[in-house]
Amino acid sequence: MATRIPIVGGNWKMNTNRASAVALARAVSSAVGGLGGIEVVLFPPFPYLLEVGKAIEGSRLALGAQDVHCEPDGAFTGEVSASMLRDCGCAWTLIGHSERRHVIGEGDDLVNRKVLAALGAGLNVILCVGETRGQREAGQTDAVNQQQLTSGLHGVTREQMRRVVIAYEPVWAIGTGLTATPEDAQAAHAAIRGTLGRLFDSATAGGARIQYGGSMKPGNAAGLMRMPDIDGGLIGGASLNADDFGAIVQAAAHAG
Ligand code: 13P
Repeated sequence: MATRIPIVGGNWKMNTNRASAVALARAVSSAVGGLGGIEVVLFPPFPYLLEVGKAIEGSRLALGAQDVHCEPDGAFTGEVSASMLRDCGCAWTLIGHSERRHVIGEGDDLVNRKVLAALGAGLNVILCVGETRGQREAGQTDAVNQQQLTSGLHGVTREQMRRVVIAYEPVWAIGTGLTATPEDAQAAHAAIRGTLGRLFDSATAGGARIQYGGSMKPGNAAGLMRMPDIDGGLIGGASLNADDFGAIVQAAAHAG
């Protein structure tokens, strides 16, 4: 079986302010500083990228953006390009987060263009997929994930897939306190890996890291991380508390 280094992301969403963002980054850095065998990425709001980047300089934490635009430059008021993010020290970007798909209204085609632009500019990508509650109740979980992966990864090469992580985030579990059971999450992750195998090949699928996201907390992280196809987590609410986030990172580091 492929050895996959777990990866945990802290998606701060539209939270923190300039001072608290820096304080949180420092606190996370000291909470997870001594851990090995794991990748940890912080996703602060755009205005705080530079200062959070400075706060984690020399630590084991990496910096990521919560979104990216699909064009390299030009008249796109309010948007931020992949090269700007790299310029600000980002190694990663989230793309296709459910809040962007379902609240802002981003479609699969735009998500795909963003993935290609980010990879082309040298950013690593966390591509988020996941079903709504209605889709789960209708038995469409795997079909929805398959469709979002197929369109989101259209035109991505096997080589580029080494810089892509998939985040499975069931929409009904995000910010709700409801979490997929480890068994349900594992089933979705295994199906996602199967789809990656069909889209690319079995070695690419075996090497791809698939995070779970959706109300992951210190109390449920270990059970989820223990599952064979769960390779880390994408954390919202609990990433705003350094102790909670640190405990989740520890659970991921010790799951292997
Ligand atoms: P919560 O952990 O707050 O449910 O958010 C998950 C998420 O959306 C991470 O991207």
